[in-house]
Amino acid sequence: MSDKATLEYSGKKYEFPVVKGTEDELAIDIKRLRSETGMITIDPGYKNTGSCESAITYLDGEQGILRYRGYSIEELAEKASFLEVAYLLIFGELPNKQQLDKFYSDIAEEEEVDEDVKKIVDSFPRTAHPMGVIASLTSALTAFNPSAVNIESEEDMYNAIVKILGKFPVLVAWTLRKRIGRPYDYGDNTLGYIENMMMMMFKRPNKPYKMNPVVVDAMDKLLILHADHEQNCSTSTVRIVGSSHAGLFASLSAGVSALWGPLHGGANQAVIEMLEAIKADGGDTAKYMEKAKDKNDPFRLMGFGHRVYKNFDPRARIIKKAADEVLADLGIDDPILDIAKALEKQALEDPYFVERKLYPNVDFYSGIIYRALGVPTSMFTVMFAMGRLPGWIAQWREMRLRKEPIGRPRQVYIGETYRKFKPLEER
Ligand code: CMC
Repeated sequence: MSDKATLEYSGKKYEFPVVKGTEDELAIDIKRLRSETGMITIDPGYKNTGSCESAITYLDGEQGILRYRGYSIEELAEKASFLEVAYLLIFGELPNKQQLDKFYSDIAEEEEVDEDVKKIVDSFPRTAHPMGVIASLTSALTAFNPSAVNIESEEDMYNAIVKILGKFPVLVAWTLRKRIGRPYDYGDNTLGYIENMMMMMFKRPNKPYKMNPVVVDAMDKLLILHADHEQNCSTSTVRIVGSSHAGLFASLSAGVSALWGPLHGGANQAVIEMLEAIKADGGDTAKYMEKAKDKNDPFRLMGFGHRVYKNFDPRARIIKKAADEVLADLGIDDPILDIAKALEKQALEDPYFVERKLYPNVDFYSGIIYRALGVPTSMFTVMFAMGRLPGWIAQWREMRLRKEPIGRPRQVYIGETYRKFKPLEER
């Protein structure tokens, strides 16, 4: 097979190298396209565009495979902790015991924020959407940690990484506490990472917090499943903002904003709202299936479909099983789980969904678990951001270490051609 692709236009032939990834994915390298042909490509939504070469996450949407640094998501969710996965994603290898202990003790040292951050959290109305609050707080961290990260210094990079991994759970917890009107709490950083985050989120001011291992395990698993997903909307945003050499925290804040939308991370909140609405409407799932298929109706089956997966999202399989286990363990009987299962069954048998290869995605069942763990619906996407944090950091670090150029797509202009300016009185 030739390792070149030929483009023919206007009687002329141009050759471009074909790049092959380690999993045999092929791509036409068009770096010289414009200089040689004067043309660009157009690809709205970047459905056919590889924005980078990356060694972090492998995803095969046809087969439903997801691996972080070569390890399957199924094994990682079963056997690793969130912090091991964070280390793996960011530094490329699973840590040994010593590396993991050091990583966590360095992070734990950073699990506090400047006292003035409280004033910022306080200044938001309680009704503010938590994603807006956490995006602002992440950006505000820049003001309290103004020194730029020197990417030539491994130590500087490491320090910035443990800093954000330490402070982000504090921001997550305080965003929740503001929302529900509880005093801010620093938990206890001698606890594990997840345990401390749970304590910072849920501890009542007048009661000891009782740790439930089922809840901690479920949270750990959920965060692992969300930890990276190659070049999705928020990750691409982090990389593109970082490519202008904006700092790590500013890049992450942009990622949080990108994640907020209901077509991306915001889908987990939208799914629960949809399931609640179906329940309130008598639980007629068939009616909502029809709405989802009706092109004149803006309703979409939230938690279904994916840009890359044209098969079961492997994360959805794991989460569905975990939802059953967690609800059984906690003795919760949630009627919206039954609605979700009925919708899934109908969709998997419906030609509209089958032909379009629309399967449940990660967000379809995750909200049901978050709800069982006591996380309010408006915080679901914040929990997604918490999980995605190591992935964003890993992708930002990779992009900077590879010295990628500033992200700056081109366009095909379709507006007015030159027009002579008309003074106000002549318009
Ligand atoms: N319900 C009904 N129809 C759908 C759905 C859905 N959830 N998703 C896609 N379709 C239809 C769509 O109308 C289109 O039909 P047609 O070919 O007749 O025009 C076809 O399927 C292809 O859809 P698309 O919108 O062109 O696909 P996309 O790759 O641009 O969008 C998506 C992917 C995830 C934005 C979309 O499937 C969607 O809106 N899903 C619901 C929101 C959701 O669950 N998002 C979470 C994604 S996973 C987690 C994450 O990324 O954060």
